[in-house]
Amino acid sequence: MPYFSTLYITAMHQFIKILLAVSAFCCAAHSYEWYESGNFYQIYPRSFMDSDNDGIGDLQGIKSKLQYLKDLGIDGVWLSPIYKSPDADFGYDISDFRDIHSLFGNLGDFDQLIAECNRIGLKLILDFVPNHSSDEHEWFQKSERNISGYEDYYIWRTPQIDEVSNIPVPINNWMSRFRYSAWKWSEIRQQMYYHMFVYQQPDLNYRNPKVVQEMKDVLKFWMDKGVDGFRVDAIRTLFEKMNPDGSFPGEPRSYDPNCDQYDHCSLINICTRDQPETYDMVYQWRNLMDDFATKNKVGSKVLMLESYADVDLNMIYYGNATTPGAHFPFNFELIKNTNINSTAEDFKSAVDLWLDNMPAGHIANWVLGNHDQHRIASRLGVERGDLLNILIQTLPGAAITYQGEELVMTNVHLSWNDTVDPKACNTNDPVNYEKLSRDPARTPFPWDDSKNAGFSKADSTWLPVGDDYKTVNVKAQEAAANSHLKIFKKLTTIRKESMFRFGNYTGILSNNDNVYSYKRQHENEFAVVVLNFGKSQEVVDVSSLFTSIPSKLKVYTSSLESAIADGEIVDASKVTVKGNIGLVLLNSSTMAKVNLILLIFSISFLIL
Ligand code: GLC
Ligand code: MG
Repeated sequence: MPYFSTLYITAMHQFIKILLAVSAFCCAAHSYEWYESGNFYQIYPRSFMDSDNDGIGDLQGIKSKLQYLKDLGIDGVWLSPIYKSPDADFGYDISDFRDIHSLFGNLGDFDQLIAECNRIGLKLILDFVPNHSSDEHEWFQKSERNISGYEDYYIWRTPQIDEVSNIPVPINNWMSRFRYSAWKWSEIRQQMYYHMFVYQQPDLNYRNPKVVQEMKDVLKFWMDKGVDGFRVDAIRTLFEKMNPDGSFPGEPRSYDPNCDQYDHCSLINICTRDQPETYDMVYQWRNLMDDFATKNKVGSKVLMLESYADVDLNMIYYGNATTPGAHFPFNFELIKNTNINSTAEDFKSAVDLWLDNMPAGHIANWVLGNHDQHRIASRLGVERGDLLNILIQTLPGAAITYQGEELVMTNVHLSWNDTVDPKACNTNDPVNYEKLSRDPARTPFPWDDSKNAGFSKADSTWLPVGDDYKTVNVKAQEAAANSHLKIFKKLTTIRKESMFRFGNYTGILSNNDNVYSYKRQHENEFAVVVLNFGKSQEVVDVSSLFTSIPSKLKVYTSSLESAIADGEIVDASKVTVKGNIGLVLLNSSTMAKVNLILLIFSISFLIL
């Protein structure tokens, strides 16, 4: 490149950086941690991008697509487990907490991935799976052989042996989350061990200080590598209730008609979940992470937890000012409390439940789906896809998007033969397996309309690509005049504005409880979000719902099928919203500023 043009580009680069910094400063006098209103994106590594064409996604594949996530407006990327694993539970059974699965690459690829994240300005969060290891982990192999120092790394007990059948009797009635007894006989040790998940995932014994220290060292190992935080897997099951004599009490029956005697839900899980010691362990991890950041003078590390517990229990994870805990336990209320028939009132209640219970000064968060749930658009209706993205992008706190939700992907149907998820396979039920299967949400990500949706050039992929990939893919949605993807990007852009980052929230139902609206306001800046969860068109009088609404508002963006163009001016007292449609409304001055920032970004991309 000629000397002149290099100089020119460098100068322009600096100029744009200054412009961006100035515009960011104007928009946000406050400076606070990136994750407080962080936009998180969950990658399921097996299915994001395959670089070596073996039909399974990998780290180099992810690295090649980071710019896509940056352009999407994502701040932090969370990777489902990438560690060494025999894949009994697709990576959640880890045989070396400090190594990378050979299918995904190696530690060198990981270093490159993190360097690339740093270069383009994305935070990287890893899955931390503390409850169990794989039965192929060295610790388990040693523990099973009673090797000195490792005897108590797992939860071992001596069972009674049935005199007639000569078969060991499970220690008690505890059931695995994936069906059948949670106790497994080891011929080698002549004892049984406890496993909350599949038997290839033995639970670690957190009453052993050596285990506690080992897992802290694992956290440190990855922080040394530069990761920005952790999503903690299955936190609720870390400890099991133990009697003073070391025995384990049985659990009472739930009499749930939907569960048979081999299902975990046939019991009330008062002994295998939510034990008091769990919270303290989370506080210890947070302390370790904060200490690490302080000592190494690096940005603070974020701690988020997977917990489907009731809200009152989840709040304990936040900790308090003197003993901070997780930055947030995931808020699954929008998953647990909603279905295809849910009304505006149901959604508002789910939102309020978290906001009303969360202790002051903490970070709310919103999750619609993940690799364990059927796709949100299939659960709650494709027609509500944009409306739901509008919801989570405009509520206070962090938003977590599962890969493909930005495209409004739906479940992919998988035959019994194609099914690989142990949760489905363990049903041994070729008719009803799909209800429980997690595979429909784990299929390859559709990048374009070429072979295997551009995910891989292999002859076949580990799970099949969805039938609709010719139309539901990134390339098509980027090329379209408007699309779910484009709406998603508009949302992530506006989300960086002060009313969404710091603004208060006032929510209200109207129109016979079909419409859920809220105002987000920070100083003079505000936005109103109108979500019509009903099936029919509603005319919403926004000026009667909130104070200080000007007579005219501008539509910043709306659901794809709204029939309203972005930028359209509407009468605040008569906002017409079709069924299942969401709108983001702004006053004109905010709109002008957002346009200016968009313009600056566009110019900078053009020049660079
Ligand atoms: C969590 C994971 C899930 C996994 C389980 C056991 O719930 O999200 O995918 O099967 O833990 O690790
Ligand atoms: Mg456990």
